Amino acid sequence: MEVGFVISQSDIQGYSFLVSKDAKLDNNVFVITDSGIFGRVINIANMNNLLMDQDVLIYYDEILKHVAPERENYSIAHVKIYGYVKDNRINRVNSPPKPGDTVRIVDWNELKRLFGLEESDQSISIGYVLPYEQEFYFDPYRLVEKHFGVLAMSGAGKSNMISILLQEFTQRGIDLPVVVFDIHNEYYNFSQIYPDRFVSIKSGDIKLSGEYINTDVVSSLIEDLSETQLYILDSAISRLDSPSIDNLLSILRSKDDEKRSVNALIRKILHIRNMDIFGEIGLEEKIGMLKYGKSLIIDFSDSTNDRILSTKAYVLLKELFERRKRGEIPPVLVIVEEAHLLASNETNTESRLSQLILTRIAREGRKFGLCLGIISQRPYYLNQTIMAQLNVQIFLRIVNPYDLEYVKSVSEQLTEDDISSIPNLLPGEAIISGLLKYPLFVRFKLADSRLRSNYTDLRSMVDRYWEVNGRRRYLKDIDF
Ligand SMILES: Nc1ncnc2c1ncn2[C@@H]1O[C@H](COP(=O)(O)OP(=O)(O)O)[C@@H](O)[C@H]1O
Ligand SMILES: [Mg+2]
Repeated sequence: MEVGFVISQSDIQGYSFLVSKDAKLDNNVFVITDSGIFGRVINIANMNNLLMDQDVLIYYDEILKHVAPERENYSIAHVKIYGYVKDNRINRVNSPPKPGDTVRIVDWNELKRLFGLEESDQSISIGYVLPYEQEFYFDPYRLVEKHFGVLAMSGAGKSNMISILLQEFTQRGIDLPVVVFDIHNEYYNFSQIYPDRFVSIKSGDIKLSGEYINTDVVSSLIEDLSETQLYILDSAISRLDSPSIDNLLSILRSKDDEKRSVNALIRKILHIRNMDIFGEIGLEEKIGMLKYGKSLIIDFSDSTNDRILSTKAYVLLKELFERRKRGEIPPVLVIVEEAHLLASNETNTESRLSQLILTRIAREGRKFGLCLGIISQRPYYLNQTIMAQLNVQIFLRIVNPYDLEYVKSVSEQLTEDDISSIPNLLPGEAIISGLLKYPLFVRFKLADSRLRSNYTDLRSMVDRYWEVNGRRRYLKDIDF
């Protein structure tokens, strides 16, 4: 469908066109000129020369009486050029479209062919392409194989997107097991609804075996240790023949020198004993489930201590990494919710250990088939090395200017106009960058209501409270 013609001036990055009066043109629709230049509408401006001139505007009432100013309305659309279409392929553009060239909308079938969005037994669909409102089929391995990030403010639809992805993996029989670091216990129903595919594990039930009683892990579990304390800890650990916290304590208690430091250290180690994280039940049987193709949902919502959270995450990730390297488990997708908690942008934080292993996996994991899905509502606080390794980036609504600024610096495919549309996205709407050759606007489907996260806004929380606890009573009705 023809929608206008190119106006001056155009270059190989982009062009503008005058929109025909009767054309219906949506932002983000793909267009092509009669010379084959393919691109996407990134902005539409409505203009009226009559209503632009201040000298004229002061006589607006007069003008209205004599002319119909809307007759002077016209629209200019701006297009970002992606390439030159020849034989159903998009090639590099060598010369810009000529002013006067006609522009038409690329229809859905044509777009599907150009982008390879056809449904096949290899593809999944988790949403619709905007503004076409057509099912978005893609190869799931393309999404996960080079790590992906889902970045957006709270309530924008991140967890729902993960739920629909997991649901689709399950229904389409994608044989890639997933390990979800479920920080807020949002995925608890997967193991109920798909018991043969998902296993739920409470992080409290994950105990670390004695081999993890090493200086790195112990010192990350407690507040800063002095140099002397570190030295004492190190030498005590090296003397452990059967590693347990109790044995470590007895070695320390038997020390005669440096009593002050030793006693301070003992108090800290006692604190670790209270955490109850080392024990007999190792990770073996839990991680072993992956061998049978099961996915693991690890519920960290019972973990109130950031150091414990980070340490357990570290140990899990390290085990996955090592086992994957040795080929003992199948390739795995690891989804990390609230990733900024486990891998912040600062060094020496409470999450030092998990940050270390996550950056390592971000850099090396794909070689071994260990893929990351990083979810965060604070991209600005997220570790930069990890951010840089996320080849596919899914942005849902973001309004925080620092986060937006950061998004701008990491997303190569997006234009300024794309970035400025991020704050206006509706729940579930996203820009996907890096999955295909060009960014795409999509709206994710809602996951099965039983699998959806338990996100509740404040109004529903207030309503629910009064529903459960009886109606509001006014002070005068209450007998004190
Ligand atoms: N694809 C979608 N379509 C319509 N509404 C959605 C969609 N995704 C999310 N929502 C709405 O937004 C709410 C928050 O979604 P959620 O995935 O929990 O957000 P986040 O994880 O980003 O905090 C959901 O309860 C739902 O009402
Ligand atoms: Mg969420």
